Amino acid sequence: MFISKELKVLGIAGVVGALALGPASYVLASHTPQFANGVAVYETTCVACHGENGKGTIPGVPNFTKKKSPLSKSDGELVQNILHGFQSPGSFMEMPARGGNPDLTEQDALDVVSFLREEFGKK
Ligand code: HEC
Repeated sequence: MFISKELKVLGIAGVVGALALGPASYVLASHTPQFANGVAVYETTCVACHGENGKGTIPGVPNFTKKKSPLSKSDGELVQNILHGFQSPGSFMEMPARGGNPDLTEQDALDVVSFLREEFGKK
């Protein structure tokens, strides 16, 4: 269900408040609008290949939760690779530019990188 998934994504602190206010206000109250946008971008454009758990749904897609994942690169490099597409040497499958969504903006890419780090990055 959408609400419980949102709560899982965002952590369980403030569940009571979320139930009182509804999930949208919870997202805005506990995270910046940018973070909420990052969640939305991931859920619409990236999740098909990268998966709910960030481990990738098809061979060739990196596992973001591993220690030596692409998330060890800088924000700037990741944003560039998201916007322009990316293929590592010898890889048989490329990351499509803007995740295949021509409307994806640079701000969207920045927001989704923050989301990737918070949700999947090694803490
Ligand atoms: C059609 C499948 C597909 C979609 C959709 C997709 N990706 Fe990827 N992504 C890949 C693959 C495959 C790779 C690995 C490419 C390689 O290493 O050659 C990758 C790699 C990446 C990387 C690592 C880049 C690096 O520098 O190593 C990031 C970050 C990433 N994707 C983010 C996203 C985001 C954010 C979205 C949504 C906006 C997205 N991807 C949508 C398939 C996809």
